[in-house]
Amino acid sequence: MSTITRLALAVAAASVVTVGGAAEPSKASRVYGFGSPATTDELGAFVSPLPDGRGLPQGSGSVTRGKDVFEAQCAACHGAQLQGGLGDRLIGGRGTLVNDLPTKPPVKTVESYWPYATTLFDYIKRAMPLYQPASLGNDDVYALVAYILSEAKIVPGDTTLDQDSLAKVRMPNRDGFIADHRPETFPPVAQSPHSN
Ligand code: HEC
Repeated sequence: MSTITRLALAVAAASVVTVGGAAEPSKASRVYGFGSPATTDELGAFVSPLPDGRGLPQGSGSVTRGKDVFEAQCAACHGAQLQGGLGDRLIGGRGTLVNDLPTKPPVKTVESYWPYATTLFDYIKRAMPLYQPASLGNDDVYALVAYILSEAKIVPGDTTLDQDSLAKVRMPNRDGFIADHRPETFPPVAQSPHSN
């Protein structure tokens, strides 16, 4: 799923909280006589963590552990050097997205394109490995993120990531995006169900 689609989903879910979060029975439960408004916690499970770390689960994982998990669960598709194969190339391409050289095509990877490290956690946790999505525990996902970011030379090789340190990682393309200037299209993140 694209980042834009996920952002749209996050915003949609955030608006539900605003509308349905009150003690009033929801329209659906009034009509059908069952069900209850989704709680903030329940909605949180559908909404991606925010770039500042709100919504990230507890846990931690090291680069070394991530390397082991990657070799067992990911390398078959993404390549032992993260160079891609059946699945996308994950590292490299930094600085290629905007250039004037016809001989230098843009190479879009986690390293060169993704603005937030928290998205990497969320994507792997929900979508990978491709044949068994959402099967990995939080510690393994933190470890995988640490490993991929260390192979991309964004964090040192002795890094251990958790919910606090992951949000502090600054991705190389962080400033490569233009913010949408229409507040009515993308309401402030303050409306997210994530409060922790
Ligand atoms: C069976 C093959 C397969 C396996 C195994 C697999 N992936 Fe993927 N991965 C893919 C494919 C295919 C995509 C592209 C999916 C799409 O665009 O919808 C992808 C996309 C990704 C992306 C997004 C890349 C981008 O730039 O958009 C990341 C990150 C990722 N995988 C990480 C992992 C990790 C970590 C593991 C191991 C836990 C893993 N994958 C296991 C096939 C696989």
